[in-house]
Amino acid sequence: MVAGLTIVRESDRRENIGKKATTLDLLVQQGNFDVTRQHVLAGKYFYLDEASSWEGFEFIYVLSGILRETDDDVLLSAGDYIYHHGLTERAHFQVDQDVDLLLITSPPSFHLMRDEIQEILQLARSVEEKDEETEGHCHRLERLAIATGERLDLNGDQLITLSYAAYLHDVGKVKVPDEILNKPGPLTDEEWVEMRKHPEHGARMLEDKEFLRDAGKIVIAHHERYDGAGYPRGLAGDDIPIEARIISVVDAYDAMVSDRPYRKALSKETALAEIERNSGSQFDPRVVRAFLKVVREGSGATSDA
Ligand SMILES: [Fe+2]
Ligand SMILES: [Fe+2]
Repeated sequence: MVAGLTIVRESDRRENIGKKATTLDLLVQQGNFDVTRQHVLAGKYFYLDEASSWEGFEFIYVLSGILRETDDDVLLSAGDYIYHHGLTERAHFQVDQDVDLLLITSPPSFHLMRDEIQEILQLARSVEEKDEETEGHCHRLERLAIATGERLDLNGDQLITLSYAAYLHDVGKVKVPDEILNKPGPLTDEEWVEMRKHPEHGARMLEDKEFLRDAGKIVIAHHERYDGAGYPRGLAGDDIPIEARIISVVDAYDAMVSDRPYRKALSKETALAEIERNSGSQFDPRVVRAFLKVVREGSGATSDA
């Protein structure tokens, strides 16, 4: 081998991390830059931060798939690339078709991105282990919530916050005692008091991480009701963040169409009728209309992300 030359085979790659939707593969880290390969599934959103929060240089080369820069609606495909240094505002992207990206970043950012993904995975796993009802629920919720949010023309930042919040909406349940969380029978009044603390527990857990702080503000409101009869704060109407109003509808729907230890899943049509019946009381009618279209037209119903 020529001195100073390194050849790395795909099979020898050491560092990578992924949840199903995003995989990150560190190819090289040297001096003040790193090279990462990133695979992102269709339907995902991400942004590049403005220079005030991340001062660096980043080069992104599209190896395959289709990426959309949503602020100016520009499509990027294989061979196209972008780079930035000193962005004056956030730039937002949506993945139209699964993309493979090559990233060159200075200063290195792989470990930051990896830590963020790990945080989310750990939080999600901790609640899935504890609460028998959540398996698969978080992924489905995220997908349906995003599809509904798109229908309602939420902007890029809102969609990103929505996807974190939907995925982690019940994370606060890890602080609810097991015997209450998985109790087979109905809860007593005191047990309900404990159970209803989970949105606040969740918000507090997410507040600690800067990149999840906005999602925390949604998580705390996911059991508020449009008519003001929800908890923990009894907010009503537009005082409830739109992202939380979306999660509330999608969460109720997914719970109804899933099997529970004490009852069988309801049919899709029965569940939709129940959502419609509660439009204007429990749920925001505008969100309900958008959600019905999403489910009936089948968007957001693609395979697990
Ligand atoms: Fe909840
Ligand atoms: Fe839920």
